[in-house]
Amino acid sequence: MATRVALVTGASSGIGEATARLLAREPEMQLVLLARREERLARLAEELPTRTTCIAADLTAEDAPPRVLEHLQAHHEGRLNLLVNNAGASWRATFAEGGYANVKHTMALNFDAVVRLTEVLLPLLRASAPSAIVNVASTASRVARPGAGAYSAAKFALVGWTDALYAEERSHGVHVGMVLPGFIATEGFPANELRARAATRWIVSTPERAAEAVLDTGLRGHAERYVPRPYFLAAAARLLLPGLTRRVLSGGGGAALTTSTGADAAENSTRQARQ
Ligand SMILES: NC(=O)c1ccc[n+]([C@@H]2O[C@H](COP(=O)([O-])OP(=O)(O)OC[C@H]3O[C@@H](n4cnc5c(N)ncnc54)[C@H](OP(=O)(O)O)[C@@H]3O)[C@@H](O)[C@H]2O)c1
Repeated sequence: MATRVALVTGASSGIGEATARLLAREPEMQLVLLARREERLARLAEELPTRTTCIAADLTAEDAPPRVLEHLQAHHEGRLNLLVNNAGASWRATFAEGGYANVKHTMALNFDAVVRLTEVLLPLLRASAPSAIVNVASTASRVARPGAGAYSAAKFALVGWTDALYAEERSHGVHVGMVLPGFIATEGFPANELRARAATRWIVSTPERAAEAVLDTGLRGHAERYVPRPYFLAAAARLLLPGLTRRVLSGGGGAALTTSTGADAAENSTRQARQ
């Protein structure tokens, strides 16, 4: 089997890290890990049983996509068989509190950065075909909760764009798929509120389960994977029972399901340090 090259964004923790660990077990797989925390990436690369290179970059920076392209050309002969667009975060705020500033900030990472990176890497993916793109979306790409409108706007946009790209790239040998996680306990989305209660703990899953869904999509041809699988029921309910879904989510149910995030915690500690 010829060597394959996979790039995972957001590989320094959570779903991206678990994906990198799982991909590293695939035969003839070289990895490229990307995130901002360089030391985390270096530590992970040391542990993996395959050739792994790292890029420390902020994906919202203007020069991130050309830097990634240069890296692949310099270290992996310009090959790319799998692009996992996984990096993402959510800053919780109602629209009245966060306004356009929060929507813009959230779109920049969860949508614009994915589109910009994919644009620059698409020629490599076509030249390396058969190849694949996996976009890590969310159940929030199908159902919106109060306090997470900016995140849903970005993730809804991501699935719409992904469906179109699937149809466009099929004939070029680039499979395009999406993974839609529900609650997965990670640094960015700890789901502490749900894990604290026996009644809701069972709905929270693990990064390893999400990573399996990424591999099903990127290596085994799936186009769309909810993880855990029963979360597709939330998407079905939104389509088939819109009135009921709205009532549940605009009552206590919606607030209970809008858990606080790692990005919120990081922003609060920066604010406190400044005071
Ligand atoms: N966990 C869930 O419940 C859940 C549910 C639905 C969807 N998702 C999606 O799953 C994906 C992975 O999230 P996760 O749960 O694994 O959270 P996580 O553990 O916080 O991982 C997020 C990753 O993205 C990277 N990242 C964040 N901002 C970045 C930037 N500006 N440039 C480059 N990298 C950046 C982070 O690394 P650095 O901080 O080192 O840059 C980290 O490696 C996200 O797209 C998220 O929206 C998660």
